[in-house]
Amino acid sequence: MSDSKKTITGHSTTGSGAPAPSDRNTLSVGPNGPLLLHDVHFLEQMAHFNREKVPERQPHAKGGGAFGVFETTEDVSAYTRAALFQKGVKTEMLARFSTVAGEAGSPDTWRDVRGFSLKFYTTEGNYDLVGNNTPIFFVRDPMKFPHFIRSQKRLPDSGLRDNHMQWDFWTSNPETAHQVTYLMGERGLPRTWRHMNGYGSHTYMWINAKGEKFWVKYHFHTQQGMEFFTNEEAAQMAGKDADFHRRDLFDAIARGEHPKWVLSVQVMPYADAKTYRINPFDLTKTWSHKDYPLIPVGTMTLNRNPENFFAQIEQAAFSPGNTVPGIGLSPDKMLLGRAFAYADAQRNRIGANFHQLPVNQPKVPVNTYMFDGQMAYHHSGNAPVYAPNSHGRPWADDTGAMPDGWESDGEMVRAAYTLHAEDDDFSQAGTLVREVFNDDQRSKLVDQVAGSLLGGVRSPVLERAIEYWKNIDADVGRRIEEQVFSGRGSDPAAGMGDA
Ligand code: HEM
Repeated sequence: MSDSKKTITGHSTTGSGAPAPSDRNTLSVGPNGPLLLHDVHFLEQMAHFNREKVPERQPHAKGGGAFGVFETTEDVSAYTRAALFQKGVKTEMLARFSTVAGEAGSPDTWRDVRGFSLKFYTTEGNYDLVGNNTPIFFVRDPMKFPHFIRSQKRLPDSGLRDNHMQWDFWTSNPETAHQVTYLMGERGLPRTWRHMNGYGSHTYMWINAKGEKFWVKYHFHTQQGMEFFTNEEAAQMAGKDADFHRRDLFDAIARGEHPKWVLSVQVMPYADAKTYRINPFDLTKTWSHKDYPLIPVGTMTLNRNPENFFAQIEQAAFSPGNTVPGIGLSPDKMLLGRAFAYADAQRNRIGANFHQLPVNQPKVPVNTYMFDGQMAYHHSGNAPVYAPNSHGRPWADDTGAMPDGWESDGEMVRAAYTLHAEDDDFSQAGTLVREVFNDDQRSKLVDQVAGSLLGGVRSPVLERAIEYWKNIDADVGRRIEEQVFSGRGSDPAAGMGDA
């Protein structure tokens, strides 16, 4: 998956391996004369320079990562037959952490949700879990995702970030309330990537050896402790070291401090999904830990830095569609939208054969009928390129019910999820504010939101934002209203994109 460290000796060469004539001086007619087309080495260097970037990720452009190992320490075979989750199995893996909205060079410490992407190189193929540092998300229908991301990025005319645009989207889509409350709280400013939790966020399916199905949610708890920045610390760090989180992870691993997370899962019996008091596939909701307690699974330790950032992190391609036997998707509409989006983005961003790059390549033999394409490297020799074939090249031929499938409702409709008994947009955000946050955290939340709203949010979005917060919690909403209308927000530029 990673090239070993290169020791480079001797002469530099051209791309085709012949000795390069000079990496300092071009070939010219006399020292002061015009340059010559004979200088093929110079032309090659210039041409390749023009092509040395690939498009940045849209979204999650700014990030960093490291390799490590996942060890399953507990017996969860009652829930999944996935090889990587069998007790005692150790699996090599890659993690990439990121911000969502900022571009490739943006400061790591701007207020934002953080990406938590994992690739497990299992004995049954690569398994990717592409989550965040929050257990939920802003929207529950993938149709809204491009609109959401654009509203968090830049205005079309000035190219500037804009609090008004962010709040316009959030308040027009009240299902954002739960995630916005997380974002405006401490989790919007993790001190380092080592000091944050990670979540699969979606509901996934696990299938055991008997074919029994369960719904699961993944929780990775940091063993370094959760730590956060204040607005002031984050703003200062954004100016001082825009790459603070990337540097922190790399330096810690280089020092031999290997960050560790414990994975636990919540497991819901298959049949409960129909009657649970909230829709368990709605990505804006968490499941009560009282109803579905955490079950420990194992530990993830990051212990090896990339040797080359571009080859191993920039070209890393994670996709929620990459599952392995014993793990399946769920009816979560967002998850299904994502199952398409990522590999498509990577074909565009990296190339049609992105899966052949060492960092993305599985450790198991590959027998795929994806054929040729730009930069094809691995090939199947003269094996038949079609299936079925009469020459012994295996092909897949599953029929009938999918072993990791689920029952669906039938009719084709465009509709929101069916509401379960306690489904609404604001209750869980209210619980977070009232029952999880303490007085100090609530006051900081009020300051943060008021500051963000004072940073250019105009009527009618402003009034809608006050209403939004009153729906989350009457008292917090009133306090935000008071601060906004008396102009006392702590930091007028405290929106997402500003610390
Ligand atoms: C329908 C909803 C979504 C769509 C269409 C979508 C699409 C994308 C795309 C196209 C990328 C760039 C991939 C690449 O170029 O390699 C990306 C990156 C990412 N997304 Fe999503 N996304 C969605 C929702 C989510 C959710 C709900 C989460 C977390 C729970 C999430 C977490 C991430 C992370 C962590 C990355 C960075 C991956 C990496 O480290 O390379 N996304 N998303």
